[in-house]
Amino acid sequence: MALGVAVVALVATVTGAGDRPPLMPWPASIEQTGGELAIGPGFRVRAEGGGRVVARAAARFEGRLARQTGLVLPPPGPATGPPALAIRCEASGDAGLPHLGMDESYTLEVTPEGAVLRAPEAWGVLRGLETFLQMVTPGAEGLRVPAVVIEDAPRFPWRGLLLDSGRHFMPIEVVERTLDGLAAVKMNVLHWHLTEDQGFRVESRRYPRLQELGSDGRYYTQDEIRRVIAYAADRGIRVVPEFDIPGHTTSWFVGHPELATLPGPYTIDRHWGIRDPAMDPTREGVYTFLDAFLGEMASLFPDEFLHIGGDEVNGNHWDASEAVAAFKKEKGLADNHDLQAHFNARVSAIVTAHGKQMMGWDEILHPDLPRETVVQSWRGAESLARAAEQGFRGVLSNGYYVDLMQPAARHYAVEPYAKGADELSAAARARILGGEACMWAEYVNAETVDSRVWPRTAAIAERFWSPREVSDVEDMYARLEATSRWLEWLGLEHRTGYRRMLQRLAGERHEELRELADVVEPLEGYRRGDTGEYTSFTPLNRLVDAARPESQVARRFSLDVEALLADPDRAAGREEIRARLAAWQGLEGRLRSLLEGSGMLRELVPLAAEVSRLAGVGLEALGFVEEGSVAPEPWRAQSVLLLEEPDERPHALEVAFRPAVLRLFDAAQGETSSPGGQR
Ligand code: ACM
Repeated sequence: MALGVAVVALVATVTGAGDRPPLMPWPASIEQTGGELAIGPGFRVRAEGGGRVVARAAARFEGRLARQTGLVLPPPGPATGPPALAIRCEASGDAGLPHLGMDESYTLEVTPEGAVLRAPEAWGVLRGLETFLQMVTPGAEGLRVPAVVIEDAPRFPWRGLLLDSGRHFMPIEVVERTLDGLAAVKMNVLHWHLTEDQGFRVESRRYPRLQELGSDGRYYTQDEIRRVIAYAADRGIRVVPEFDIPGHTTSWFVGHPELATLPGPYTIDRHWGIRDPAMDPTREGVYTFLDAFLGEMASLFPDEFLHIGGDEVNGNHWDASEAVAAFKKEKGLADNHDLQAHFNARVSAIVTAHGKQMMGWDEILHPDLPRETVVQSWRGAESLARAAEQGFRGVLSNGYYVDLMQPAARHYAVEPYAKGADELSAAARARILGGEACMWAEYVNAETVDSRVWPRTAAIAERFWSPREVSDVEDMYARLEATSRWLEWLGLEHRTGYRRMLQRLAGERHEELRELADVVEPLEGYRRGDTGEYTSFTPLNRLVDAARPESQVARRFSLDVEALLADPDRAAGREEIRARLAAWQGLEGRLRSLLEGSGMLRELVPLAAEVSRLAGVGLEALGFVEEGSVAPEPWRAQSVLLLEEPDERPHALEVAFRPAVLRLFDAAQGETSSPGGQR
């Protein structure tokens, strides 16, 4: 009996998520039926139906299973005996291309004798295979998949990630491994932001000066684009290209100044932020150009949707142009919003003529736009509800910006029905197609992008796929951690990159630097831009670039502190908290020679001091909490000074356990009410 208990406890430790499979997104319905399917060297897959998409998926599955388990699977050849995994796709022919509203449902039944994956279409097979791979975990007898019956289908049909290749170019390998990650968490849209002030990233054969002069040579050829689209389609992912107009267009004007409102010459912009250049909406030649260019792109990208951006037009160049003023007067356009609406209406006609449905950021919302337009809401959730009530379909991105360096729980709490499903009419609700995480790339490059997208995007993927009731934050974090480890089998570098970057910064002393890196986070929001001069030439190789958006060490510490304050007699928790604080208190002393002696690390000296100061106050506060006494006023007054936030943070980092120390500090003064929000 005692032995049995020990084995169960060990299993729980190994898999990290108890005996529930560490699935993310959590399925619509799952029943654990007891027992498990052993994954051994004789493991075979057999697929029926689903055409080439399923055949290729089965082959990829075998490769991934072998990699993930380290097993040498049987070579292809005539099978003897029943397969361990039988795939039965009802649709027999080729699936064609992934499309909005495709059937992604599947059922997966696993017994100790074998597994059967059934799906009406190939897309459901893809989703079910990910579920199976995610459940391959070490058990008491070896690698296994728990016996389950899963019936699964997505809650929303549009579940995407925006990848910004404009500001920092993302090489094809990065795009492909991002697609692998998206498929793993059952996302189905890559929204590819291909043009920006800082770079024009797609080859136009019609207007080659666009990429030749607008990209520093860093763009995707049309062959590469086709390769990515095929790669995505094989994984059930649509590729929606964005050509952001009429603002965010400086790179277009380097080769084609005739498109711009004000005369050039123009050069590629190296700075971030909302820039002044904008296309000239008064000139007929601009629409002729867009007709030819968007027509070319409409042929290159097979998806039904084409995104025209439309965000952040500040109107400065329009206001500086006499031709624009005269045009507005002639057409009776009251302001720049009306002018942009006029532009959008012309572009909409072009996009429609090329057989696509137009999509744009919420700035484009205007009653005159055709109702086929899809509005992507980034500025606020209300605009999405408003658009849906007006008859537009919409996709939510507000709340899902992973570049803001917010904790996964914050994104996880955001409902695509932003206004609250109950307040929307049924018709409006049906027009909300889903959501997209956004990976804007001012402070992200090919080296760091994985660690900003993953693992947090998996939590967002769950919000889009799983039933609304799946919302337990601690359960999410347990599965997110397991998912994060699993995603690395795909070649994603969000965990390995951390170590590599710390090694670059600290050489053989990287483990010491890691003590600091583990408890700091990049400044939330866009505050990093205020800490120094950043351009597209600025290296992203500092601790702020290595540090994770969300410190799990600090998050767990915070939970320990809350548990202690809820029950101050818990001796075990107290010792753990004390040990951590004592280690952090000593950090400044331990790291001083490393930090002071390195040009790349010197900026961190005040940060290490802040860590030690905060930990010192935390230790003393813990003492008062343990004694059950109220801290005297002189201690409070002195500690307030030690807890002060520095005026400047040139390292662009903050100490992630600060809120937990503030909780201890409050508790030392007899204030033990629980905090209002997350951490
Ligand atoms: C945006 O974030 N400007 C769409």
